[in-house]
Amino acid sequence: MKAALYRSTGKAADVLRVEEIPRPEPGPGEVLVRVYASGINPTDYKARSGAVPRPIDDFQVPHQDGAGVIEAVGPGVDSGRVGQRVWLYLVAAGRRCGTAAEWTVVPERQAVPLPDGASFELGASLGVPAMTGHCCLFSDGPLDGMTVLVAGGAGAVGHFAIEFAKRAGARVITTVSSPEKAALAEEAGADLVVNYRSPDAAEQVKAFGLVDRVIEVALGANLQLDLAVVRPHATIVTYAAEAADPVLPVRACMTANVTLKFVLLYGAPMTALGEAAADITAALAAGELTGLPAHPFPLDEIAAAHEAAESGAVGKVIVIP
Ligand SMILES: NC(=O)c1ccc[n+]([C@@H]2O[C@H](COP(=O)([O-])OP(=O)(O)OC[C@H]3O[C@@H](n4cnc5c(N)ncnc54)[C@H](OP(=O)(O)O)[C@@H]3O)[C@@H](O)[C@H]2O)c1
Repeated sequence: MKAALYRSTGKAADVLRVEEIPRPEPGPGEVLVRVYASGINPTDYKARSGAVPRPIDDFQVPHQDGAGVIEAVGPGVDSGRVGQRVWLYLVAAGRRCGTAAEWTVVPERQAVPLPDGASFELGASLGVPAMTGHCCLFSDGPLDGMTVLVAGGAGAVGHFAIEFAKRAGARVITTVSSPEKAALAEEAGADLVVNYRSPDAAEQVKAFGLVDRVIEVALGANLQLDLAVVRPHATIVTYAAEAADPVLPVRACMTANVTLKFVLLYGAPMTALGEAAADITAALAAGELTGLPAHPFPLDEIAAAHEAAESGAVGKVIVIP
């Protein structure tokens, strides 16, 4: 089969190649999936560049997320799953074959039914971002009637965090840095969109209401804003590391009685992943999850696709194997 792969870490154009490799076979408990769309996330290009290195077993086919159709099942898997449309998560976690290939193999629980109304491009956008958004939002109980602040609401995780928070009955405030991103956050359903670079950003948020839960992409940059707008006993959940770690203003955090939490999808408990996967498919079936604008690239242009994602393309970069 045709696959994109790298054998060492480095710049996209230096290390990514498209080669013919043997098609993997599904082992016990696994399914073989014909991949129709493969989503790129920051974790994929950070692993490829070596910024956050992962062990390479001879070669690595990149990308955790994808969508396609189950073509064969291994021993112990219901053969009725053959022909099922699925979305995939954490495919390359500890495995050599991610989704940037014509076929991939995953444990069957990581191939989640994709409702007919949902495109493969949307399916390939879900794994890392939607599961991370879900795990962050619900890491501290239900949200009905609460006010949630999603930092960076036009980002991949932020987008799904807005949609899940609305679905869960929360009032949602989000921050962005441009009118183009504000439009995307409004489309996702945010009730209030604030430019985080505005000098009165905190006042705009407070005028809407104090915040119970913050889903944070840049803790150091935003902690002052977050502490200014949270209700006592609020929770700030962070899922991204910045270039430099923040200095923690301990007294201000104590005064706010705030709880700081951190989420890394790779270490999320299986129960949380299972709940997120089920809720994502239910939301898709209800038509309550949408994708950011997609930027599709053919597999042969894998290096250009990585460069687009790394340079901050607004929307979702997708590779079509
Ligand atoms: N912990 C985990 O398991 C996990 C899972 C997924 C992602 N991540 C990490 O989370 C980060 C975001 O991932 P992503 O896929 O959502 O990336 P993305 O699609 O590139 O979105 C990042 C967003 O963050 C916004 N942003 C940057 N600085 C901000 C600030 N100071 N205040 C508010 N918004 C800000 C950006 O908007 P502007 O450019 O307009 O500022 C952008 O929209 C990456 O570092 C990724 O590695 C971690």
